[in-house]
Amino acid sequence: MSNSPDQKSNEENAPLTRRTFILAGAGVAAGACYAAAMGYPVYRYLADPSERAQSAVAVKEVFLKDADKLPVGTAMMFKFGVKPALLIRHAENEWTALTAVCTHLACTVQYDQNKKHIFCACHGGVYDAKTGANVSGPPPKPLAKFQVAPAQGGLTISLT
Ligand code: FES
Repeated sequence: MSNSPDQKSNEENAPLTRRTFILAGAGVAAGACYAAAMGYPVYRYLADPSERAQSAVAVKEVFLKDADKLPVGTAMMFKFGVKPALLIRHAENEWTALTAVCTHLACTVQYDQNKKHIFCACHGGVYDAKTGANVSGPPPKPLAKFQVAPAQGGLTISLT
């Protein structure tokens, strides 16, 4: 049995039922969730380079109050702009300041006081604690080094 043209026209023009309204609303909500789930990582990917560029331009020097009191053979973490950095005191007047962002996949590195080297826990990368040179593991290049200068009440860390 086939529909007459009048019956078909009536079905197409039928008022929105509660069921079709709810199904349409659920479809729109699911689509919005899907778009948000897909869009947020893209937003983060696109936003990060500008944040990095801003921090690189804005910060050329930081002052670390009381950092000159750091015990010999120890290290401390600090922020250089928005990035983590590492200050190591090797001897009374021997300091190294390096970025603490691994050159492999950007994990934060740490100073190993016992082995006197810098390591990355993510994939086992190892760096020289005095030069920042990549010694072993996957890191492809050295850690960026900063200049360290004594200042009144602390240390000044600046770009080289
Ligand atoms: S992120 Fe540091 S070794 Fe992979």
